[in-house]
Amino acid sequence: MWGGRFSKALNERALRYTTSLPVDRRLFEWDVLGSIAHARMLDRVGVLSHVDTCALVDGLTQLLQDPPPLDGPYEDIHSLVEAELGTRIGLVAGRLHTARSRNDQVATDTRLFTRAALVQGLWAVMELQQTLLEVAQQHTETVLPGYTHLQRAQPVVLAHHLLAYWEMLDRDAGRLRDCLVRADVLPLGAGALAGSPYPLDREYVAHLLGFAEVSRNSLDAVSDRDFIAEHLAALNLLAMHLSRCAEELVLWSTAEFAFVALDESYTTGSSIMPQKRNPDVAELLRGKTGRVYGALVGLLVTLKGLPMSYNRDLQEDKGPYFEAVDLVDDGLALLTAMLGSAAWRTERMEQAANDPLIAATDLADHLAQRGVPFRQAHEIVGRIVRAAEASSRSLADFSLDELRAFSPVFEASAVGLRADQVAAARNIVGGTAPSQVETQLRAAAERMTALRTWVDNAAAKLPTLESVTATD
Ligand code: ARG
Repeated sequence: MWGGRFSKALNERALRYTTSLPVDRRLFEWDVLGSIAHARMLDRVGVLSHVDTCALVDGLTQLLQDPPPLDGPYEDIHSLVEAELGTRIGLVAGRLHTARSRNDQVATDTRLFTRAALVQGLWAVMELQQTLLEVAQQHTETVLPGYTHLQRAQPVVLAHHLLAYWEMLDRDAGRLRDCLVRADVLPLGAGALAGSPYPLDREYVAHLLGFAEVSRNSLDAVSDRDFIAEHLAALNLLAMHLSRCAEELVLWSTAEFAFVALDESYTTGSSIMPQKRNPDVAELLRGKTGRVYGALVGLLVTLKGLPMSYNRDLQEDKGPYFEAVDLVDDGLALLTAMLGSAAWRTERMEQAANDPLIAATDLADHLAQRGVPFRQAHEIVGRIVRAAEASSRSLADFSLDELRAFSPVFEASAVGLRADQVAAARNIVGGTAPSQVETQLRAAAERMTALRTWVDNAAAKLPTLESVTATD
């Protein structure tokens, strides 16, 4: 309950219904660091005395070093921190909230959380990318069937397949970086909604908290949650990519495919069928994606009807957001571990890649390269495929004479095409030929070096107790 306006405390059920403490307790550290920066700035511009500021900063520092239990009858983490500070340093604690509102405070805390979560997420994405590169490096010549419509289509090398996921993650990393740039704006100083009558030095607070800039419009600063929606949108695509990869692990670990054996530590047994080994972790990576999507849709619905500026509805932003961040973090770490520990059954892949009909496109290309219009070549090879199927033979087993019975244009190089030759023929930028894939691997490693530098830089700007209390 705030101040003398009320003669009664908030109804108990109403408090239980409205409190955000069970969720925003996670912002404790950010709340305290933001408060230290705010107090130091008030001292600097002469709104607080140096003595009072030292008491506040010492008390807040103590709270961080010896945190109170983060529960109790509080509306939110901000009220808890202020009350706890009061029990430790007495009345002077009441000066901390000068020139500040919980509205600009919660927006600041959440943006600090977002910056840290984005850095963490980017590191986790890079771990997964690194593992993909390491596995890919060992399999630049391992062929397997590439699929369209889940039907065997043309052979590819395993490294190429894995690098497809690397590319998705590269775009995910780009989106997370973009989010960080727009989240990197300090709301503090916006007050409740209209700014502050005190001569605040907002740039100084931004400097202490490592924000790149200060918000330009106070109404927007307290009511904007785009930065969360954007982060969630980026997490949605990332989760979708993780889910697709997980789905392939499920599919590839079936007896029907048997391209991969997941490490036992990421599989579970059946309660009734003793022979079973189920890819539950991969399945749940797929399954939990729905909750990540739900977080985004939920937030957008919460936001769509809100009038300016702050409305209490906004506190519903955090619960699903935090959950989505955690789900994707866990998903990244688990997928990294599963891919790193899986056994790749290359003999099964090669066998499948040498499917009796898989060289069909290449036979058609063989004719087209020798002047036959491709559509006609397609027709001719279609007839050969029919003959092969009728006699249960592989296209690779057709002799030159047999091929020439379908078209006199065939030459010796059309005979006995193997999957590795077919893959090697796609020697074009972006293609699956081992030499191309080697180039792609080197380029990927270079892009990761640049990304790592960028993320490490962003990480270094995140405030810590040392950085917010450092002498100027
Ligand atoms: N728990 C609130 C939130 O997350 C904190 C801000 C409360 N502001 C207020 N005027 N009641 O949005």
